[in-house]
Amino acid sequence: MCGIVGYIGFREAYPIIIKGLKRLEYRGYDSAGLILFDGSDLKLSKTKGKVSDLEDISKEITLNGNIGMGHTRWATHGVPNDVNSHPHLSNSGNLAIIHNGIIENYAPLKKELIKRGYIFHSDTDTEVLVNLIEEVQKKDNLKLGKAVQVALNQVVGAYAICVFDKKNPDEIIVARLGSPLAIGVGENEFFIASDASPFIEYTSNAIYLEDEEMAVVGLNKPLKIRKIKDDSLVDPYVQELKMNLEQIEKGGYDHFMLKEIFEQPSVIKDTYRGRLHANLGLIQMAGVEDNLEKFLNAERIVIVACGTSWHAGLVAEYIIEEFARISVEVEYASEFRYRNPIINKNDVVIAISQSGETADTLAAIKLAKEKGAFVFGVCNVVGSSISRETHAGAYTHAGPEIGVASTKAFTTQITVLAMIALRLAKAKGTLTNSDFHRYLQELELIPDKVAEALGTNDKAKEIATIFKDAPNCLYLGRGYNFPVALEGALKLKEISYIHAEGYPAAEMKHGPIALIDEHMPVVVIAPKQGHYDKVVSNIQEIKSRSGKIIAVVTKGDTQVRELADYVIEIPDTSDALSPLLTTIPLQLLSYHIAVMRGCNVDQPRNLAKSVTVE
Ligand code: F6R
Repeated sequence: MCGIVGYIGFREAYPIIIKGLKRLEYRGYDSAGLILFDGSDLKLSKTKGKVSDLEDISKEITLNGNIGMGHTRWATHGVPNDVNSHPHLSNSGNLAIIHNGIIENYAPLKKELIKRGYIFHSDTDTEVLVNLIEEVQKKDNLKLGKAVQVALNQVVGAYAICVFDKKNPDEIIVARLGSPLAIGVGENEFFIASDASPFIEYTSNAIYLEDEEMAVVGLNKPLKIRKIKDDSLVDPYVQELKMNLEQIEKGGYDHFMLKEIFEQPSVIKDTYRGRLHANLGLIQMAGVEDNLEKFLNAERIVIVACGTSWHAGLVAEYIIEEFARISVEVEYASEFRYRNPIINKNDVVIAISQSGETADTLAAIKLAKEKGAFVFGVCNVVGSSISRETHAGAYTHAGPEIGVASTKAFTTQITVLAMIALRLAKAKGTLTNSDFHRYLQELELIPDKVAEALGTNDKAKEIATIFKDAPNCLYLGRGYNFPVALEGALKLKEISYIHAEGYPAAEMKHGPIALIDEHMPVVVIAPKQGHYDKVVSNIQEIKSRSGKIIAVVTKGDTQVRELADYVIEIPDTSDALSPLLTTIPLQLLSYHIAVMRGCNVDQPRNLAKSVTVE
């Protein structure tokens, strides 16, 4: 994880770096730091805590200069403290580095460097890397770029790095393997960052480094990209960015998470715009159309993902199996990659990832490709590693998701996956014509219904007031809404730190029902479609053990209303698409509980948005 920012050009670097770090804080916020070259020396400022803490301590120092870099950290090696914060300096004090990733073989490298007289101040792997670069540079009298390359060839692990040398302060060396790195290309200036958000107001031209590539980013010289392994030159591919500033600012909401919850009607529309043509009875997705035969010949589809994206995968399993009658398995990417799974050439692997940078999902993709499978990506971040690593894919078009808890990513992923299922069903004839058309129309109505479901905000807030101090909470659902129960529980635990579990409602009697007493809030997802009667029976079982029931029901429901302590009504839709609506009040409930508990909703403790470590 971690966010990195760099600047070289004619502007003052400090405000660019600070603003950039704030935009990248979703990647980690254990500590923050920056370094500038002021024309004669390096100026370093770093601290445990957030970018705002860095700003506070930096007021004491004069931080001028047109070249610099900054870092916001999600701790891996070494506890979050001032010393372990980046940037790190080499022993001579000439080289400075920022790093996102993990150097796995740092321990033997460190031992060797200590033998050669190097002293280490921090517990980080990064300080080892900068001293390794210095050692290589000194030993063979190499230019910085070459020294970085030689050092990286000795390293095992993952990295996106920026390095500069105060004795040669007109270039920054950057390199990546496994962690993202974008270069914003301006007129006589360059920006470097983990994603394009820190520089979108300055340039819409960006180069995304590929794995095992490095570049010398300097003034008055052409930008050269090379392969780290064999030094071969790579043609820089300059991409035009589609992001705008408004998309990454809070727009009047108290938190990004709330803004993103409320964006769902419009982003779901963006997701299906140009792809779903309900009036023509058509679904057109280029990535699917171009590879239709592969999907149709698939013996099975294997979905790999993590966290919320994994929950979207579970919903997709139900939808694809029901609509297209293709067998689907859903795997945690972290398990898949390490368990020697059976993957055949005829398997289609779908990798789902908001960030497109999740290390475990990336590794699962690589493994599936090695085994000959066709790999299809469902990503949100355009140009992300997963979108480039997969054979084909479909973007979710949800726009930047800044809040660490995934919300709009989940519903847009389900939208994409439902469209894929419908397209395959059409090709296979596994849905009747009238059902196919009905689902297209239903999907087209979803944004308006999500907007209506957002009307439950006040109700969710009222219920949050009652349950905000509960130590535990259960979430139950069946069928399509079982994954929603898992997702509801994940949302609550990650942002409010209340222990929460999701279960298929019928599993209660196999153990978890023992937890029920008058203190246990139980959120039951009970829309009219689906296994309604069965869920009603499950509610009765909880009720008779004095559990407190918060039910998400279809508008007009009477039966559950009589049993539940609190009800939240959502609009009616088909069973298969109901997760797009039932999840909305659960997102709002978690949000309000977390706010009332005084938690940092957008940046929950111990988490980061983009999990680029395994
Ligand atoms: C939970 C959450 C995480 C992510 C997971 C995968 O709210 O955001 O569980 O879903 O880390 O991330 P992506 O989708 O970026 O691969």
